[in-house]
This record gives sequence, C-alpha cells and structure tokens, in this order.
Amino acid sequence: MKQIIIDGNHMLTGRIEIGGAKNSAVALIPAALLSDDVVTIDNIPNISDIDALNEILEYLGAKVVHNDKVMVIDSQNINNREIPENISSKLRASYYFMSALLGKYRHVEMYFPGGCSIGARPIDQTLKAFEQLGAKVIEEDKKYIIDAEELRGCTIYLDMPSVGATINTMLASVRAIGETTIRNAAKEPEIVNVATFLNNMGAKISGAGTSEIRIIGVEKLGKGFTEVIPDRIEAGTYIIAGALVGNNLEIANIIPEHIEALLLKLQEMDVNYKITDNSIIISKGENLKPIRLKTLGYPGFPTDLQQPLTALLVKCHGTSTLEETIYENRFKNVDYLNEMGASIDVINNQKIKINGPSELTGAEVVATDLRAGACMVLAALAATGKTIIRDVNHILRGYENIIEKLTGVGAKIYLEDK
Ligand code: EPU
Repeated sequence: MKQIIIDGNHMLTGRIEIGGAKNSAVALIPAALLSDDVVTIDNIPNISDIDALNEILEYLGAKVVHNDKVMVIDSQNINNREIPENISSKLRASYYFMSALLGKYRHVEMYFPGGCSIGARPIDQTLKAFEQLGAKVIEEDKKYIIDAEELRGCTIYLDMPSVGATINTMLASVRAIGETTIRNAAKEPEIVNVATFLNNMGAKISGAGTSEIRIIGVEKLGKGFTEVIPDRIEAGTYIIAGALVGNNLEIANIIPEHIEALLLKLQEMDVNYKITDNSIIISKGENLKPIRLKTLGYPGFPTDLQQPLTALLVKCHGTSTLEETIYENRFKNVDYLNEMGASIDVINNQKIKINGPSELTGAEVVATDLRAGACMVLAALAATGKTIIRDVNHILRGYENIIEKLTGVGAKIYLEDK
C-alpha cells in the first residue's frame, strides 16, 4: 500500500507545469479506435489511468507506441472481443471503449466500468442514446452486450448534461448513417477536445462546447492527430495550493478561460493572483472572505474542484457554504479535515458549512477518492506537522508526478511503499 507523507507549512515558490487533462486523454485514447488508420495523441499525462487504458488497447490487439507524452495508436487490425471485468472495472472511462467499438463494429461486449465511489453514477443516458441510434442493449451478470444491425442518426435529448453520455453519443454516432443531434449536451472543454480529434480524423461534428452538438455520420475515419488540452483540474488544485501556501507560485501551461469559475471565486475571497497568457502567479491569501459555492456543469464551478477548494475555505474568516449538485456522495474528505482541526458541518449529503478560520494540524488521513485525496494533500501542505495520507493510488490515478511537481517548488512530500 502506498502512502504520502507531508511535512506541512512550508511556503511553495517556483513553477509547476500542468500536464494533459486526464478526462480528455481517457476519452481520446478509446476514440482512436474509431479510425481505420494510425492516429497520434500528444501531451498524454503520466498517470496510472492511462496505463489501464493501454492495457485495454493491447488486450484488443491495437499496436501502441507510447513514448513519454506521445502515443501512436494503430487499430487497423484489432480483435473486437469481450472486455473482461478485471480491466473494465479499473476506471470509469473504460466505457468509452464501449461506444467506440459499437460505433466501429456495431457490436460490443464489456463488463461494467469502475471509477471513484462518489455516488451512484448510472449510465442510463449513454444506454438510451445507443438504443435511440438503433442498438439493442442486453445487461446480464454485470456485463453489457450491445448489438446493432445498423446505427442510424436521430435526435437525442440528454436528461442531464452528462460528460460521459455526451462523449459516448458522439463516439457511437460519428460513423452512423445520417445525422445525429445531441440536445442538452455537456459543454466541458474535454468534449471539444474529443470532437476536434474526431474531426481531424474526418468526422463532421459541429457545436461541441455548446448544448447542441450536430454529428453528420461518415463511413470511415482515417489518420488523425491531436494534443490533449491542459488539465484544468490539476491546474486548479495547484492554484489552490498557491492560495494556501504560495509565495509567487507559478502554475504554467494553463488555459485561464477553462478555470474562470475558480478564479472568480478566488477573487471573491480576496486571493491575489496575476494571469499572463498561459500561466498564473499566486501567493498565500490573507484575511480571506467566506463564499457561497454551488457545483455545476461547465462553465459553472466544477465538482472536481469542490473538495480541493474546501481545504482553502477552512482558512476563510466566517462561514462558507458549499453545495454539491452533481454527485450524491462527495464529502468523504470532510471528516478527515475536521480531524485536522477544521470546523465543517455536514448539513446533508449535498451541502456543507465551513466555519473558519481554523488552524490545521497534521494527522493520519485517507484518500477515499481522487479529489478527496487532492484535498488531503492541500490541507497537509497548509498544516503544522506531519500528515500521513493512505490509499494514495487514487491520487496517482489522476495527478501526474505529483510528488516531483510539489517537491520542485519546495514542499516536503514523500511517497512511501508500505
Ligand atoms: N448521470 C446519470 N446518468 C447518466 C450519466 C450521468 O444519472 O447516464 C449523472 C451521474 O450519476 C452524475 C452526473 O450525472 O451524478 C454527472 O455525471 P457525468 O456523466 O457528467 O460524469 P462522468 O462523465 O461520469 C466526468 C468526469 C468526472 C467529472 C464529471 C463532471 C471522466 C472520466 N470523469 O464523469 O471526473 O466529475 O465528468 O460532470 O471524464 C474526476 O476527475 O475526479 C471525476 C470524477
């Protein structure tokens, strides 16, 4: 079992380079299978979720050359066989293989996907879209068997703007007959990244990044190239670190527009920062004001930054309220923050009140999921004394070289294999 040990309360200064977005890369890699040629993806992050996707690619017989940040995928001769539970369950994004294989071969068999335990996370909208496109979905013994004589474009209304359902519908319909419209589509930048990649391979997708996406089916997809966009959640996490313990900490290689909701909230709190073209310089905030915050789909405040930001809300002078509207169970970080000295009341499963300011002291805590883990790292960086974070595999799934990046700016952080 790996654990992270942090000796807190050291100021961070210097520069952190942000890597490629996890939630883009995990969709771009399965999307590559839709091509009948060779595709190249640059700026792949160094995280364990990518290793899990590589395992699926290799299991299916794709030829993969992965050198540092560049991945070249040749899926001309893949074997569309059942994806077993031991690999499908390693991550949520394995279900993008389901839609890519369905889109290409009209048939797929795959066991249920995995992912962080932060709520029910049904995939009914994805399955509804497959059925509306003409597929028959059979669910048996934790496995989906999905089959279509043909996939035919149609208008699909998503009951909620789900990132996964939007991407899955694009992947399944890009080679369908005729035109598909996704209404109430999610607008996250990762969706635009996937659509741009597919278009580069020859797809005809317009409207990605708005709530209505139009896909004109094409027969084949060919060679393609894309670059993974910078990870806005990784960027946001280190920006929050800067607001907690930064001394002119520079977070580089970001797209400021993608993190505007966070930046505006920091402004409300009176945190000072300076934005240049593609980086931000931030220092520890003093006398921070409390805020009200509600998570929403993009361009609203991202649920994935809600737990990391809680570590900073602990430092505000007064009571902040935080409402989580996307997931039912994303406050597992709260008990551990309270053990470290915070004063947070859980009002219900989706609402907390943070009474600040509190001094944090090192403790033994657990990374119950990826972003709860990020919150623990941030709290530990700001705490007096030593914090031990257990179950850190969750963190390593989504934050590339986190130990090296934080050590590089002066943090006392170590990874231990116990
Ligand atoms: N939902 C349904 N039915 C569906 C799809 C979604 O009810 O068919 C509900 C979910 O249960 C959830 C909400 O809608 O309550 C949002 O789900 P969404 O489909 O948008 O999420 P996702 O695609 O499963 C991606 C990211 C998440 C991120 C959300 C933000 C990936 C692999 N995951 O998840 O990232 O929180 O979008 O909406 O892209 C993370 O990085 O820590 C993470 C959890």
